[in-house]
Amino acid sequence: MDGFDLDRYLRASKRVDLSGVAWDRIGEHPLPEGEARCLAYMMDIESHTAIFLRDLLGTRAAFEPDVTAFLSCWVYEELWHGEAFSRFLGEAGYRLAPDGEATGLDAPYPSRVGRNAWIRRRIAGRGYLSHVATLLGSALYRDFVALHMTWGALNELSTLSAYHLLIARTEHPVLVDVLTRIVKDERRHFAFYRAQARMRLASSPRTRRMVRWGMANLWSVVGTGVRPQPETDHLVAYLFGGPEGLEAARGMDAMLDELPGLAGLHLAVRARGEALRRHRPAGSSRVVRRRPAAAGPVRLHAV
Ligand SMILES: [Fe+2]
Ligand SMILES: [Fe+2]
Repeated sequence: MDGFDLDRYLRASKRVDLSGVAWDRIGEHPLPEGEARCLAYMMDIESHTAIFLRDLLGTRAAFEPDVTAFLSCWVYEELWHGEAFSRFLGEAGYRLAPDGEATGLDAPYPSRVGRNAWIRRRIAGRGYLSHVATLLGSALYRDFVALHMTWGALNELSTLSAYHLLIARTEHPVLVDVLTRIVKDERRHFAFYRAQARMRLASSPRTRRMVRWGMANLWSVVGTGVRPQPETDHLVAYLFGGPEGLEAARGMDAMLDELPGLAGLHLAVRARGEALRRHRPAGSSRVVRRRPAAAGPVRLHAV
């Protein structure tokens, strides 16, 4: 595969290295609610990767050993990204719906069992519907894996861009440290998907037509549907709303432009614009923050 050494990736894959992170110093620095809300979204989507994998393994991707080898390591790495964010939020004193579970130093991993179960229950019928639609799409379209790889490239680059934007914005030194470790994994994930997409799109005009149609008509921001739309819009507005965010969205579109047959889609800039139009700034959101009179945990209800 051009530009990606799969064998090297598989042998190097491991849990994100968090040794030496100053967990005990997280509480010494403020974590604004806007950042905590972004982190909760990131945590939830990282933790949901196993469900994406369930959908994908029912498709033609299961017949491709190189793809399944990558996915086996990818899902493990993503799990630990979710765990890193979970612990960070816990150490920062945030308690999340539905049960305000504490996830500090002594909490068992994997944590937030109640929250992950709650999110999956809330998706309910829509989750089965999208699972069946994925299976059908794969059965009907020979080029399904090419679409999956292109979709994955854009999602991993979205994730990478969002983490870089948060690194640039936050004033929390420990968060910068944690994110800097995680982006190394995201860079490798992106490189795999992009190399796969490029190779498959180059194979035939039919593949390019089908993938172009699928991306233009079906793609949405990573995590859409897993969490309520206002949460996706908050993250996009908070991180991608300014000039640096617009630049990052243009960079994502430029990556797609370079893939065979996908020039001129402008998906990221379009999605950013739609999220900004829908977004209601803090205060009009149904998110409620309650801090007890004495110093104590901060609750983000409904997030
Ligand atoms: Fe991740
Ligand atoms: Fe990733």
